[in-house]
Amino acid sequence: MKRILGIVASPRKVGNSEILTKVIMEAAGPDNELEMIRLTDLDIKGCRACYSCLPQEATCVIEDDLAFLLEKVRNADAVVIAAPCYMLGPNGSIKKLKDRFVSIGNKFEQFAGKPCVTVTTYGAPNWEGYTEQALNLTARFLNLKLIDSAVFFGASPAEVIEKPADLQRAQRLGRALFDPDYRRTSQENECPVCWSDILKYDGTNVTCPFCGTRGKIKAEVDKVRLIFYPKDDHRFTDEGRKRHFEVYLNSKKQEYISKRKYYQELQDPYRQTSYWITLDKRE
Ligand SMILES: Cc1cc2nc3c(=O)[nH]c(=O)nc-3n(C[C@H](O)[C@H](O)[C@H](O)COP(=O)(O)O)c2cc1C
Repeated sequence: MKRILGIVASPRKVGNSEILTKVIMEAAGPDNELEMIRLTDLDIKGCRACYSCLPQEATCVIEDDLAFLLEKVRNADAVVIAAPCYMLGPNGSIKKLKDRFVSIGNKFEQFAGKPCVTVTTYGAPNWEGYTEQALNLTARFLNLKLIDSAVFFGASPAEVIEKPADLQRAQRLGRALFDPDYRRTSQENECPVCWSDILKYDGTNVTCPFCGTRGKIKAEVDKVRLIFYPKDDHRFTDEGRKRHFEVYLNSKKQEYISKRKYYQELQDPYRQTSYWITLDKRE
């Protein structure tokens, strides 16, 4: 028996994200223990940028439901993350949650290797935006083992499972969770590390904005092709995580502490001016 956790980032009851999560979890196999969390119901506050969480032994100082959520992920054998596209990106609860992952950036081993699939739902043709990439990033910041991700069209609740092919796709995602032989079909011209087809181009090179893998555009007779190089030196390797969350962030924190007086002097002229509208001045 395996424990599967479904994290649903939609406020809509029995909506598309919820239904797909249920289909996926149920398809993963019989006798599993299934649990779901509606992310939009949790009290997840915004990161305060205090960096108190940086020491290895520290946790986030904000008292809310983050610890509860992380404990649920820690206890799960597999995770499904589902969110609707809102204004071309995921529902805001995903961004708020992801910002708080600075606090686990240097404690990433605790979630390593748990299989995960992500599911995007969207309701306007070609308006899915960067939702899938943002959900996959959420899984990668948690250091889950991303098995596959999929995007489903459907505006009205349950519309996403209207088409048998979509329902079957969701069931395949579920079966993939614990299938050691499952291999996601990779697409041409996507980042080979994080699968993003959103890429930055500087005139010479392409860079994946998410994992940082770099590549080149190669002209062929009737098309161009992307060639990516070193695929093992990106943000989401153990080394890459350590480089950012342990070495870089800690060194910036120490630098700030040692130069605090200097930065406060730079702030001073701006401290004296205040154009803030305070709540009591609202009509
Ligand atoms: C505030 C809001 C913004 C939305 N923005 C988009 C959008 O940018 N692109 C899109 O394709 N669908 C958009 N939608 C439609 C939803 O993504 C779609 O209905 C989805 O299936 C809802 O999933 P749910 O039933 O799990 O809540 C938006 C819906 C809402 C409520």
